[in-house]
Amino acid sequence: MNLDKIIDSRHSIRRFHRKKPNWRDVIEAVDCARKAPLAGNISSLKFILVDEPEIIVKLADASQQDFVADVHFVVVVVSDTKEVVRSYDERGEKYAQQQAGAAIENFLLKITEMKLGSCWVGAFVDSQIKRILKIPEGSEPIAILPVGYPLLKGKQKRKPHLDRCLKFNNYKGKFMKPRKKVDAV
Ligand SMILES: Cc1cc2nc3c(=O)[nH]c(=O)nc-3n(C[C@H](O)[C@H](O)[C@H](O)COP(=O)(O)O)c2cc1C
Repeated sequence: MNLDKIIDSRHSIRRFHRKKPNWRDVIEAVDCARKAPLAGNISSLKFILVDEPEIIVKLADASQQDFVADVHFVVVVVSDTKEVVRSYDERGEKYAQQQAGAAIENFLLKITEMKLGSCWVGAFVDSQIKRILKIPEGSEPIAILPVGYPLLKGKQKRKPHLDRCLKFNNYKGKFMKPRKKVDAV
């Protein structure tokens, strides 16, 4: 699949086949996640790969999202903002969120390329996830990413059309002005 096709075909998967993915593929997707841009190249992320069924059920409970329990593998993205904040003060908090998002998207695109499926789960009780996964003080869970083979063929939800989000030269700019032709000297 080329990049455009991967971006277009990525969509949230919430129903999974029982077939177990190869754990190496999941690790490959984490490897892509860690290569996303980092402010000052300061890493703030850890990725917890969960394959123990009892823990996966607990993660589903803590997010109140049953489909999370229907997979063999879950990756939980954890952020420790300490180092980024040390370098960038309060802006570091923003950077840490942004680099987590970039990493998650890399992960989801790689998962899509491998014909696997996932869903970015951001709604959960933080304290419960921290307890279940023994996440230390100062680190926070950002996303739960269940991974499996999609049960059904689906497609990405409709997104705002390009002409509704692309602006030219300022927030209100609707058109790109044609450049004046410069005569050859
Ligand atoms: C920050 C964030 C949090 C999300 N949290 C959840 C969630 O808790 N549960 C869920 O089912 N989907 C969650 N999603 C997935 C969105 O619902 C999904 O991306 C959106 O409906 C668009 O569908 P698509 O991914 O198929 O394009 C989340 C997505 C983002 C970016």
